[in-house]
Amino acid sequence: MGEPQSPHESVLLAEVLDALAPLDGAVVVDGTFGAGGYSRAIAERGAIVIGIDRDPTVQPFVDALAADFPERFSFVASPFSELDIAIGERHVDAVVLDIGVSSMQLDQAERGFSFMRAGPLDMRMSRDGESAADLVNGLSETDLGNLIFAFGEERASRRIAKAIVAGRAEAQITDTLELARIIEKAVGRKPGGPHPATRTFQALRIAVNGEFDELVRALFAAEKILPEGGRLAVVTFHSLEDRIVKRFFDESKTSPTPSRHLPQQAKVEAHWSPVRKSVKAGSAETGRNPRARSATLRSGIRTGVVAREFQTAGLGVPGFRRGAA
Ligand SMILES: C[S@@+](CC[C@H](N)C(=O)[O-])C[C@H]1O[C@@H](n2cnc3c(N)ncnc32)[C@H](O)[C@@H]1O
Repeated sequence: MGEPQSPHESVLLAEVLDALAPLDGAVVVDGTFGAGGYSRAIAERGAIVIGIDRDPTVQPFVDALAADFPERFSFVASPFSELDIAIGERHVDAVVLDIGVSSMQLDQAERGFSFMRAGPLDMRMSRDGESAADLVNGLSETDLGNLIFAFGEERASRRIAKAIVAGRAEAQITDTLELARIIEKAVGRKPGGPHPATRTFQALRIAVNGEFDELVRALFAAEKILPEGGRLAVVTFHSLEDRIVKRFFDESKTSPTPSRHLPQQAKVEAHWSPVRKSVKAGSAETGRNPRARSATLRSGIRTGVVAREFQTAGLGVPGFRRGAA
């Protein structure tokens, strides 16, 4: 069966394959199946792939992989935070996560991810739960400002929240372009700069999909299921996510005693040893695919140290709590 036309070009594919190797005969969980770009390349190198995605619209790509690799590919519709449950009793050698929105999701105006396309303010990857419109029309001005600041690192968050509350007093804000217009009117637009709604849309998407909680849970789930020598590769697309992944790997480094005058410092046992330092896309890839510009790959190899319990302390997870002052 032929591959369905995929508008999504996989990012850092060669580097990801490198970080996951050796692949022949290995069992790999692709926690962000998307258009199946990674899954296909991994299966082509002789591995068994378990694909996971929470977006039901990936089904045509799932069908194509299943037809081409009936013995080596299976799929579970699930959030990747539950990848340890999704694999059941199966042994796994490697896990890969390519966090973020796919080109398909951005291109489908009716999903509401893009401030460039007219569509409902939705942004739900799994198509259930609270939508972006629910947040935009339901949160207090303080909560909106805090959310846009914490998850979007938007310095004009208060001004944007105020403009949203003024806008929704006239009529509910239900449309992507309408929200983008309100933001642009409130904060202006720098010639040649990014669209002023970029950070607010990022913040809403993160909140709607619980993206930080999903990421941290997935990292610890991978740590739990991978045996010694197992590999984890994670591609992120903004600094807030990358900080979490970096600290997750760093937290488990050995810390040798820095001075002979100080008492022997307890040796922290490492849960991971790094494959390579962080990896960015080269100019050939970013020239071809501008989305790759913001991508960072981090990866590690599991040591034999017993897995940690899920926790967020020390990982720099941005905080937003409704009703906080
Ligand atoms: C950037 S795309 C992956 C593209 C893929 N690597 C490829 O080469 O085609 C990210 C995918 O991860 C999925 N996703 C994002 N967050 C998820 C989560 N928490 N659980 C499961 N899937 C998730 C999205 O629905 C999307 O399909």
